[in-house]
Amino acid sequence: MYQLDILKGRVAYISGGTSGINLGIAKGLSAYGAKVVVIGRNSEKAQAAAEEIRQHAGGEALAFSADVRDFGAVMATIEQTREHFGPPDIVIAGAAGNFPAPASNISANGFKTVMDIDLQGTFNVFRAAYEHCNKPGSSFIAITAEQAVKAMPFQSHVGAAKAGINMLVKDLALEWGREGIRVNCICPGPINDTEGMRRLAPTPEIEQMMKARISLGDLGDKEDIANAVVYLCSPLGRYITGTVLDVDGGCQLGDASMNRVPQMKKA
Ligand code: NAP
Ligand code: COA
Repeated sequence: MYQLDILKGRVAYISGGTSGINLGIAKGLSAYGAKVVVIGRNSEKAQAAAEEIRQHAGGEALAFSADVRDFGAVMATIEQTREHFGPPDIVIAGAAGNFPAPASNISANGFKTVMDIDLQGTFNVFRAAYEHCNKPGSSFIAITAEQAVKAMPFQSHVGAAKAGINMLVKDLALEWGREGIRVNCICPGPINDTEGMRRLAPTPEIEQMMKARISLGDLGDKEDIANAVVYLCSPLGRYITGTVLDVDGGCQLGDASMNRVPQMKKA
């Protein structure tokens, strides 16, 4: 049976929560009773996201603007969260940037831009939240991607940044566990109706090829990621830290389209 107030009294801070997967996470956390704060660079987009969350779940939601590359700006939004709702105890580092490009076409600044948003941005969010979060009892979750563990053409910058995130959560989990902070990653597979998919699978043909390779044969939905976040940060996940939870339909297992290769006849 679902307990709809399982996160009642909790305060969630979600960087990059103003669109896509992270907005889905914010809606999920709100539906289960948390007060939520979403962060993005674009202030109007952020305010619209907060309104969408309030409409969706009828809960309390606020939006603040910050660029996760700017530690001072991130810290200011954590302080604003604390002032309005109390100390955050669910912290999602989801802001990311991606553009498909061969390494030979990525400038030093292009590579640094993605490293700074994804990896440094995750550190900035967790480090700032560490100062003000509830201890014990906080759950920090970074959003990674399969590029962290699987080489992929035109994704060298994203692979490097997300691999760094996978290791960062383990180190932080080890250091902060005794203070009652759990630190984990969720690794979404390809998710329907997201900017990430629009950039990496821009045509129906490419999307179809991607689906064919996934063990479960389909893309995931934003709710699939939200449900995993709710599980990890609720009391149900209280003994889980330092892990990467794949929510990807089995897409890291191998190429499921190979199932259709005809079997060799026995001699
Ligand atoms: P999205 O809709 O483009 O979401 C990106 C969010 O991050 C937006 O809210 C954006 O708002 C914010 N953002 C970007 N740069 C920022 C910065 N420098 N500072 C603060 N906020 C910033 O993307 P998505 O496709 O849903 O992806 C969300 C997360 O899931 C990412 O971590 C991505 O790597 C991961 N992921 C996605 C997929 C997929 O299928 N889409 C698969 C695996 C993993 P502003 O532009 O207003 O700043
Ligand atoms: N190919 C190669 N290089 C690219 C590029 C592309 N498609 N797009 C941007 N770059 C380079 C730029 O040329 C620039 O390098 P330079 O100064 O050497 O020319 C560098 O990346 C920074 O670009 P800029 O546009 O100034 O960065 P930004 O901070 O305004 O935006 C991005 C960051 C590029 C990641 C932008 O795509 C973004 O804001 N993305 C957020 C949404 C998103 O990516 N969603 C999917 C998440 S999975």
